[in-house]
Amino acid sequence: MNSRGKFIVFEGTDGSGKSTQLRLLAKYFKEKNIPCYVTHEPTDSPFGAILRACMNGRIDADERTIALLFAADRMDHIQNSVNGIRAKLDAGFTVLCDRYYFSSFAYNGGFVPLEWVTELNRPAMELLRADLTIYLDVDPEEGMRRVGRRSEKERYETLEQQKRIREKYFEVFKQFGDNENIAVVKSRQSKEETQERLRRLADELFGGTL
Ligand code: TYD
Repeated sequence: MNSRGKFIVFEGTDGSGKSTQLRLLAKYFKEKNIPCYVTHEPTDSPFGAILRACMNGRIDADERTIALLFAADRMDHIQNSVNGIRAKLDAGFTVLCDRYYFSSFAYNGGFVPLEWVTELNRPAMELLRADLTIYLDVDPEEGMRRVGRRSEKERYETLEQQKRIREKYFEVFKQFGDNENIAVVKSRQSKEETQERLRRLADELFGGTL
């Protein structure tokens, strides 16, 4: 393993099917003998653990604290010398990451000034941009129906908030899209059809060599 891997990010509102599609894409890479590392934000590090506690209400924190914590968790995620994203890419792994800085812009940027959140995340943007960001676009009503089947409700999981977050995603894609490679994929067709579309995008990213 010597050439640098690709960095692929999944974004979307809640219930968009990100985790399922990410898992299926990782399976595809495995079949194609592409070394692949799967990760997510908030991470499983101690920084991410604090965030999870904030998201499910076990820790009370205001929106500014949360935005700061996400930026800190992300910096560790990028830079950690043991299991950080850059270390994995350098070791030749293609990294599939569930959420990255666009989640901060869309979720946290709706509650505290967006300019402030983007400043917090500028170091991350300068250090590491995704080779491909896949936005799985689900109708917020449908997303909420899917989330409704899960047991616990988390912060931001109301229909009004989800609608606002979706709008924010499109706003920030417009604002920051120039230096990015963003693919918006409708997540309303079947799981298999959506995955087929993602596999074609992956093929393109690898220059048709898969
Ligand atoms: P999600 O990705 O849906 O994971 P799970 O299925 O484990 O709940 O949830 C993560 C939550 O964190 C989601 O509500 C979005 C939020 N979030 C932010 O607010 N800002 C961020 O920067 C990130 C990465 C996530």
